[in-house]
Amino acid sequence: MIDNLAQAVKADILIVDDTPDNLRVLSAMLTNRGYEVRKALNGQRAIASVHSEPPNLILLDIKMPEMDGYEVCKQLKAAPRTCEVPIIFISALDDALDKVRAFAAGGVDYVTKPFQEAEVLARIEHQLRIQRLQHQLVEQNKELLRSNRELEQFAYVVSHDLQQPLQSVTGFVKLLQLKYEPMLDRMAQDYLNRIHETGSRMQRLIQDLLTYAQVDKQEQEFQMIDCNQIFDQVLDNLQEAIITKHATITHDILPVVQGNEIQLIQLFQNLIGNGIKFVPFDVNPKIHVSVIQQKNQWQIGIQDNGIGIKAENYEQIFEIFQRVHSAETYTGTGIGLATCKKIVEQHKGQIWVTSQLGEGTTFYFTLPVANADTGLEKR
Ligand SMILES: Nc1ncnc2c1ncn2[C@@H]1O[C@H](COP(=O)(O)OP(=O)(O)OP(=O)(O)O)[C@@H](O)[C@H]1O
Ligand SMILES: [Mg+2]
Repeated sequence: MIDNLAQAVKADILIVDDTPDNLRVLSAMLTNRGYEVRKALNGQRAIASVHSEPPNLILLDIKMPEMDGYEVCKQLKAAPRTCEVPIIFISALDDALDKVRAFAAGGVDYVTKPFQEAEVLARIEHQLRIQRLQHQLVEQNKELLRSNRELEQFAYVVSHDLQQPLQSVTGFVKLLQLKYEPMLDRMAQDYLNRIHETGSRMQRLIQDLLTYAQVDKQEQEFQMIDCNQIFDQVLDNLQEAIITKHATITHDILPVVQGNEIQLIQLFQNLIGNGIKFVPFDVNPKIHVSVIQQKNQWQIGIQDNGIGIKAENYEQIFEIFQRVHSAETYTGTGIGLATCKKIVEQHKGQIWVTSQLGEGTTFYFTLPVANADTGLEKR
């Protein structure tokens, strides 16, 4: 109760009614309750009052001469400055209240004359509460977005600034190895090798982190991209792994989509790369990239014959740094799928996985079919 009163003190309510007696009754009821009250005797004045300073809530009579309540509501809902103000309609018990029309016009509730004080107050407080919660949600969302951006910026700056000194470390180690190797004993050579390997691993990690942080930083200038060319480029990049592991990779004809070339290469490369990597050591990877069109989207599947993923890990693997297989057997930083998810979402698609432990995994993602309205061709 105290809480309600305290909140009520701040709320500013506009009552719109062409009957002065009604205005008086309602105004007294609300003022007693601690609300700030404004009054308007017709629709025109109500609209002017809301435009000059939007109230927290409007009680709006339906039946008024010249401009009725539905029309006032329609006009207020059409203007960005006033559209968020909740409107409760007032109607006489014997009027034929068109509830559907009231809600369609943008009203959130209605009360009937003669007024039941407790009911009117309860309805007003209920609407004010919804409005406060909505406001809180919007503010919290803004704050979340801001702190997320800040975090990504932080990750980006840190990774970027770490790159330079790390390059110096690995560069000097390489120099030491080249120039002084004959003078070093086996143990010193082993130490240098380890420093070099660790440095290279760290460079890869930083590079992956930068890629991850950059996905939604880049201005999205999408172009028409032929995924068949992306696929050829990816096979080129994965040459070494394909040859070493005797991998076979086949594909359906891939679509032309609207997208970012570098990001699509990263997407295909990580998914196909994972398919080559996560196989038992005595199995030759067999990967097939399938394509089906479902209405206005392409569904692309990347199927492998690898070790599989437990169903309980399907969600986890798309989070950054989450790996569900031993780091000693299968190298990697656990950033690839998190980056893929961001890329697919940037392209307005979805990504998911299905798998059979010990038999294989299929990653699916969707991409919108290029829209004929934008002048871009369907394939
Ligand atoms: N095709 C697959 N088969 C089995 N497990 C997979 C497959 N793809 C991904 N995983 C599991 O999901 C985890 C996350 O994959 P992700 O691509 O993000 O990381 P990574 O390949 O380990 O490292 P990175 O891609 O950053 O080099 C992997 O570590 C692995 O446990
Ligand atoms: Mg990977």
